[in-house]
Amino acid sequence: MIYPPITNCKALFSLLTPCFRMRLRQGRQCKHMRILGIETSCDETGVAIYDSERGLLADRLYSQVALHAAYGGVVPELASRDHIRKTLPMIDQTLAMAKLEGSDIDGVAYTAGPGLVGALMVGAAIARSLAYAWSVPAVAVHHMEGHLLAPMLEPDPPQFPLVALLVSGGHTQLVRVEGIGRYQLLGESLDDAAGEAFDKTAKMLGLPYPGGPHVARLAIRGNPGRYQFPRPMTKRPGLDFSFSGLKTFTLNTIASETRQGAPLDDQTRADIAAAFEEAVVDTLALKCRRALRQTGLTQLVIAGGVSANVQLRQKLEAMCAQLDCRVYYARPQFCTDNGAMIAYAGCQRLLAGECQDLGIEVRGRWPLEELGALDRGNG
Ligand code: KG4
Ligand code: ZN
Repeated sequence: MIYPPITNCKALFSLLTPCFRMRLRQGRQCKHMRILGIETSCDETGVAIYDSERGLLADRLYSQVALHAAYGGVVPELASRDHIRKTLPMIDQTLAMAKLEGSDIDGVAYTAGPGLVGALMVGAAIARSLAYAWSVPAVAVHHMEGHLLAPMLEPDPPQFPLVALLVSGGHTQLVRVEGIGRYQLLGESLDDAAGEAFDKTAKMLGLPYPGGPHVARLAIRGNPGRYQFPRPMTKRPGLDFSFSGLKTFTLNTIASETRQGAPLDDQTRADIAAAFEEAVVDTLALKCRRALRQTGLTQLVIAGGVSANVQLRQKLEAMCAQLDCRVYYARPQFCTDNGAMIAYAGCQRLLAGECQDLGIEVRGRWPLEELGALDRGNG
């Protein structure tokens, strides 16, 4: 390839690789960035723009729930194809909402895992291609780090160090967080995640996917005291969880109530939903209390789809008030999957100088503890 003669500094700057340009900017103490975030790990397409000085500028979310409804769960191939259709138009809409153009963007952050590999590849390929075209860096973001940092988008965010309870459809983890990328796993589910247990219970009660919000809604008119659901793994020491037994307990309760062949009446369904929800909430709260005591920390962050659950929030508020601790969570639309959390997490990593080569790599499984720590004094 024949390069044109370099006649000015700007032309020279544009020929440098995005990573090298990033380092030059940092050398000039450029600490202001506008980052485009792209989330496509499962059945939601999320796009957002986060500005390191002005905060969130624009945020778009598209849910594929209707697409997968007939199958009772997410069909990976359908999810990937829908992300292909939706992501680029949503990026245009998000830029327009923020009154920005591609040339105003300083970096592109995308979810690189954990999640559905095909769905992740769509977001990764689009993000890396745009970054290349715009000559800006791209950064791969861990989906659960995105969730963990989502409460930082709220007006009164927590400070490090803190304990985080990550509760989503695929994860239930308690993590000691010293700073961004400085994570120590304290405990996790040995089988089903809390969100997965909500989804399976919803299915047994004839409710649609994703089941958590539907179970919570049905539980409002239920009596949680009618059935005694177990609080798994709370009697033994430690911070691990197990939710698959609760699912079996729901199944057996439904079976014993339908022995005569009659379908469950509405009140019984609501009572089962309420007893199940209370059991999950009590179990999560007990382990959070234990984690706060064990670490001596006073701030608890809850994040991931299940952190939108009102009963869980109320129980943790009451528990933290007793312990002289404080609980933090994101607004409901930032508890479930979204682009804002990815834009925020990516922005922090790019500001810290993190830079990756042009290779596209996504990971269906990705332990949070493998992430690199940031060295810009975040705790
Ligand atoms: O974080 P998320 O959107 O996706 C994953 O990363 O998995 O979490 C989705 C999970 C689903 O299992 C859904 O049923 C659950 O979060 N969920 C809830 C509520 N809203 C979403 N579970 C209980 N109560 C809710 N209000
Ligand atoms: Zn998620």
